[in-house]
Amino acid sequence: MIKLTGFKKINTAVFISGNGSNLKNLIKFSLSKKSPIKIKFVVSNKKNAKGLKYPKKFKIDFKVYSFLNKSKSEKRILKDLENKKIELICLAGFMKVLSKNFIKKFGPKILNIHPSLLPKYKGLNTHKRVIENKEKFSGCTVHYVDSNLDSGKIILQKKVRVRKNENYKMLEKKILKQEYILYPKAIMKIFNL
Ligand code: GRF
Repeated sequence: MIKLTGFKKINTAVFISGNGSNLKNLIKFSLSKKSPIKIKFVVSNKKNAKGLKYPKKFKIDFKVYSFLNKSKSEKRILKDLENKKIELICLAGFMKVLSKNFIKKFGPKILNIHPSLLPKYKGLNTHKRVIENKEKFSGCTVHYVDSNLDSGKIILQKKVRVRKNENYKMLEKKILKQEYILYPKAIMKIFNL
């Protein structure tokens, strides 16, 4: 459990690689009075990530790290996070697996959102695999990050029904809507709010 000190919001960094719709949603949430977080920094491993339009729009600091040399990029990120006094990281569609060393150095305050009912369907192409396997249910999960892919202690999950004629694009859209509700809820939960 992370303790909130007084009314000061927790400096948070969001890591993205793509569209950034969860980032946009988290920025909106962070601007609400009830939110325990303030998004101070956005990290991307892709310079063309569409989601970078959001830190630009909301005047939030952002930086792109190439990850051509993972350990060098991670070291640079850690330094920047320290300078900006970041206490919480929210991964939101970040396509790199953070190293054990990074996780150990930053501490246990890294969250991720994954579009499945973990521990089922870790990794990529979740919705496609769910449809192919004719699953009746899918959903999304917010969890703490450890050094294995899409593992770590689960904070919250939301289950949705998969309809018979649903394709994976429709399912993706449906689950994304739930992700926008679940991520802020999970953040409130870890702060005991
Ligand atoms: C989301 O489905 C998230 O669960 C997964 O990657 C996707 C990112 O979407 N980890 P977006 O970039 O937030 O729109």
